[in-house]
Amino acid sequence: MDRFVIEGAVRLSGRVNVSGSKNAALPIMAAAILAPGESVIRNVPELADISVMSKLLGQLGGKVARDEDGALRLDTTVIDNPVGEYDIVRKMRASICILGPLLARCGEAKVSMPGGCAIGTRPVDIHLRGLRELGAEIHLKNGYITAKAGKGLRGGHIFLGGPFGSTVLGTANVLMAATLAVGRTVIESAACEPEVEDLANCLNQMGAKISGIGSPRLVIEGVKELRPVEYSVIADRIEAGTFMVAAAITKGELEICNCRGEHLMAVVDRLRSIGVKVEQGAGSYLVSRNGSLKAVDVTTQPYPGFPTDLQAQLMALLAIADGNSIITEKIFPDRFMHLAELNRMAANLRKEGPTVIVAGVNRLAGAEVMASDLRASAALVLAGLAAEGRTTINRVYHIDRGYEKIEEKLNAVGAKIERQEV
Ligand code: EPZ
Repeated sequence: MDRFVIEGAVRLSGRVNVSGSKNAALPIMAAAILAPGESVIRNVPELADISVMSKLLGQLGGKVARDEDGALRLDTTVIDNPVGEYDIVRKMRASICILGPLLARCGEAKVSMPGGCAIGTRPVDIHLRGLRELGAEIHLKNGYITAKAGKGLRGGHIFLGGPFGSTVLGTANVLMAATLAVGRTVIESAACEPEVEDLANCLNQMGAKISGIGSPRLVIEGVKELRPVEYSVIADRIEAGTFMVAAAITKGELEICNCRGEHLMAVVDRLRSIGVKVEQGAGSYLVSRNGSLKAVDVTTQPYPGFPTDLQAQLMALLAIADGNSIITEKIFPDRFMHLAELNRMAANLRKEGPTVIVAGVNRLAGAEVMASDLRASAALVLAGLAAEGRTTINRVYHIDRGYEKIEEKLNAVGAKIERQEV
């Protein structure tokens, strides 16, 4: 288990490249199940979660390999074991998005029920409701979801909203299954996240007929078969947003390259309100800060609102703003594991239900802290960059799940992060 030792109070400056999106790549890898043959997916980041999905596809009967140029080659000619074992699913909840493609391709699937995780309970009831409405028979037994579509899947009119709005992977699951269903499917209250849009674009290149892409109403005309594809995944908007906060929290200046401007509007809006200068170029952002930071209120929402996946990072930034900020979590009400750790670094954060009151302090102080999940770890790294003194972050395997070469990228622009094997 590695840890990071960060010497703080640095100023970052220079250019940093954003990698491909993990959360777009994972369902796109699952989509390869739908198209027997060899698909080539580019711009897939080298991350622990991608390795887990590769292993899972291998267990199903497929083959996954990296070309020398970094492209991911997925051979799904054979998929003869439609089972997602507990051992893998418990490591990565995104494994659940093999369920829809397996049902569509094999007519049956057995996938371990994902458990809760550090960010909350995370049920999959809406995924199952949607697949049932496509004609699947689904049972829960011994911790596994068993799904069968003996007579094949058929189109339906499906509402996928839940208590916290739309569901990203639920939409991905039902969308993928519907591409091969007989007839038309309409998904209402579909997730509009760019990662779902990317999946739908990829499916259309495979021969699917999806319209309404990027809107809450997806219309899918079922087709008989899909063909393998060559596709390049979109840039990771959450990584880009994390670098924006890195520039702001260190009073630095970063040119953040290879990102899509329209995907970060809510984030840019909040950063500008805080007093961060954000200039948009063609496929890049220049982010800098000179003066002090202003307190603001932030509420996480489904896209295009402020993403829950950047809530922790923004909290680290607001921890050193002038005045009191209020952060409300509307997607995962318990996603505040970073709060206690940031308080160890001299932040002044208080949780009231799904809301955190951030009383700004002058400076953060280095401390020994524990990473609890992916984005919480990113927040601790950001806090460590700004803090006086040394910060040691234990259990950084969490960050390796979702940030490609994070310490190398940050060190190249002035950070002092050392990875130590424990
Ligand atoms: C995706 O998770 C992302 N994961 C998460 O990123 C992200 O935080 C989340 O979307 C929200 O944007 C991947 O793409 C791999 P949801 P997902 O279903 O799809 C409730 C990261 O750090 N819900 O959109 O699992 C749920 O509990 C990760 O990269 C139900 O009630 O999230 C939550 O409150 C973490 N029933 C809300 O909906 C369901 O059947 C949204 O969750 C499904 C979800």
